[in-house]
Amino acid sequence: MNQKKILLGVTGGIAVYKSAELVRQLVKAGHEVQVVMTRSATEFVGPVTFQALTGRDVFVDMWDKQRGDSMAHISLTRWADAFVVAPATANFLAKLANGIADDLLSTLAAARECPLLVAPAMNKQMWGNPANQRNIVQLKADGVAILGPASGFQACGEVGEGRMLEAEEIALHVDAALQPKPLAGKKVLITAGPTFERIDAVRGITNPSSGKMGYAVARAAWEAGAEVTLVSGQVSLTPPPGCRRIDVVSAQDMLNAVNAEVDAADIFIGVAAVADYYVLNQSEQKIKKDAHILTLELAPNPDILANVTARDNPPFCVGFAAESENLLEYAEAKRRRKKLPLLAANLVQTAIGADDNEIILLDDEGEHRLPRADKLELARKLVAHAARLYARQNKV
Ligand code: C5P
Repeated sequence: MNQKKILLGVTGGIAVYKSAELVRQLVKAGHEVQVVMTRSATEFVGPVTFQALTGRDVFVDMWDKQRGDSMAHISLTRWADAFVVAPATANFLAKLANGIADDLLSTLAAARECPLLVAPAMNKQMWGNPANQRNIVQLKADGVAILGPASGFQACGEVGEGRMLEAEEIALHVDAALQPKPLAGKKVLITAGPTFERIDAVRGITNPSSGKMGYAVARAAWEAGAEVTLVSGQVSLTPPPGCRRIDVVSAQDMLNAVNAEVDAADIFIGVAAVADYYVLNQSEQKIKKDAHILTLELAPNPDILANVTARDNPPFCVGFAAESENLLEYAEAKRRRKKLPLLAANLVQTAIGADDNEIILLDDEGEHRLPRADKLELARKLVAHAARLYARQNKV
């Protein structure tokens, strides 16, 4: 695991109860977490909660005589790889936007060197307040990442914008802040999941692709700084934050969506398990199960990836090959046939539906083996490799 050091600032809002879950998520992801609370945060939840969850003493006071470290406001930010404040109150954001450093947490923020992310949490009127909105504009201009806020039911009983994002989503942003950004400013188009070829009103031909690898690649590309469009077959996954998802059903739908988006793309990654055939004699109505032999006429689907590589000015294209045998031989033949600078080869038996996988990257230089790992870890390596080749090809 890539263990990183996260400094978590907690300010005084009712959303503090969600910060405990955030700590759990970060610790589960393998990170070391140091919590710093403001005095008012401790009115909502005691420091001992965070001490127990992180295994580290919580800092609250600048002038704590019990501690040997009189330079905590400097040393803690030097220690951290990323700094996240959740919840961030209107008061804290106002201080941050104006460089005010009058307690340990705001002083740490002023002295920071690592990326800073804040998750605002406040009543909808406070969020919409012009002074708060001015502060948000200023913080964005200063390079602070503003996470959310979400809209919905608020603790005060009102409904509106100002709810803190859920812990899981904040954790995704923290992970993203820790990744290098080789695709900053680039547009990446990705296909994912299975396609579904209709037989009649209720039936169809599909495959067991879960979409996990495609969604992991989308998340890795977003983490690498890209603007991501994900053309997705029917899956039960949530798209990564920051990704635009276009839902499709059949291979023809997927091709149409890709054609509509591909001109804008710098990189195209085809991860979808596209059905090779569609049904010619589809029935509008549900076919009755009379005791007769039903014959389906199947015609080949368009090859989406090959369509993209055959364009006049194609984006940098990456393909996947799932094979059940002769992996290297079949995959390299596919790479050449589809004219791909990069192809990720994997075995059907280890890939489909699983949470982890083993991949061999094939490019003009040969093969690069990525040992068995979580699909996100593999996706990050694949995206980094694609970004290197893309940069070399485009001399950027
Ligand atoms: O030919 P094969 O299906 O094995 O090729 C796999 C690669 O081609 C994957 O990247 C897949 O997303 C893409 N593909 C496609 N359209 C198809 C079939 C495959 O884009 N009709």
